Amino acid sequence: MKPQASLVTGGSGRVRLTDPLSPLPDLTGRTAVITGGASGLGLATARTLTRWGADVLLGVRDTDRGERVRRRLIEQEHLRGDRVTISHLDLLDLVSVHRFAEEAARRPLDILILNAGISSVALRLSPQGVESQFATNHLGHFAVTAHLLPALEEGTDPRVVTVSSALYKSGVLGLEDLVDLEDHDAPEDLASIRGYSPGRAYSRSKLANTMFALELGRRLNAAGSPVRSFAAHPGMARTPLHTSYPSPLTRWATKLAATLIGRDPEPAAVAVLAAATSPQVVPGLFWGPTGSRSHLDVLGVPFAAVATDENAAQQLWAASARLSGVDY
Ligand SMILES: NC(=O)c1ccc[n+]([C@@H]2O[C@H](COP(=O)([O-])OP(=O)(O)OC[C@H]3O[C@@H](n4cnc5c(N)ncnc54)[C@H](OP(=O)(O)O)[C@@H]3O)[C@@H](O)[C@H]2O)c1
Repeated sequence: MKPQASLVTGGSGRVRLTDPLSPLPDLTGRTAVITGGASGLGLATARTLTRWGADVLLGVRDTDRGERVRRRLIEQEHLRGDRVTISHLDLLDLVSVHRFAEEAARRPLDILILNAGISSVALRLSPQGVESQFATNHLGHFAVTAHLLPALEEGTDPRVVTVSSALYKSGVLGLEDLVDLEDHDAPEDLASIRGYSPGRAYSRSKLANTMFALELGRRLNAAGSPVRSFAAHPGMARTPLHTSYPSPLTRWATKLAATLIGRDPEPAAVAVLAAATSPQVVPGLFWGPTGSRSHLDVLGVPFAAVATDENAAQQLWAASARLSGVDY
């Protein structure tokens, strides 16, 4: 008999979904948009979704590289050429975000995976003067979602999945600092004024991802929208994300951790895939992979208090609307 996904409710509100992708979903005729689709978890997610029948649109920064990735995916998975498309997307550039969304929204959409991200990079500002990890990981995705919601509302079982990290729990939102950034234009000054830490800025951006996923869910619910919002994470995954840390020690330590406890991108993406497709995954929990290499499950855990403060989430929403120029 084939395994069937089953839910086990544990202590502290945790829910374990065993055999999370059984039976495999049939996504024929559905379209998924994946940001950061040419690498790591985004590519692994796209590959699996195509195996289940979905067409995928990948947001990519480098379209030449994206095109090579597209061709390889089509060849390896024996897909019709039009099942995978790419479109330029630079989340730091709100004009690019707008163009990408215009192209993506030409058809009804079923799944939006907010996956792209940078981690623990040296201090850099977006053209709007916002710290680059917050701007890339959160603000760009806030704007992408605003533009794509109408197309998602036309979709089947439409879902937005925000890819966060368990590190969100150590994040401090510090919106005052973020807004202050707009008044400065010399990054070196900022570094000394604010004591910039690449790791803290990453955790903050991932906290913003998590708060955004929850606030989006509340707003969609209140508006009676068919679109549902989920938050998921990959655990520790062996992807190029860990190669950009400015500190050699952090690079070395993370590489070691990824070798010892990390998962390859395809198994690491299991919770993102379950959040995007499983009828048993519910929005109110934070979903991640669990279990061994040979038997992978997904675990939904309640969000930490830092992510569930509705007041703070509304302030984040207002700041995001102002900084991205889109409100919804
Ligand atoms: N790997 C882990 O252990 C881990 C753990 C927790 C959470 N995550 C999350 O998982 C997600 C995927 O990361 P990954 O591990 O798969 O890393 P990855 O392989 O480096 O993928 C990140 C993707 O984001 C894209 N990207 C970066 N900046 C962008 C921008 N300004 N505009 C558009 N796209 C941009 C990258 O494009 P390029 O290819 O052009 O650089 C790349 O495709 C991230 O949100 C990350 O925070 C990862």
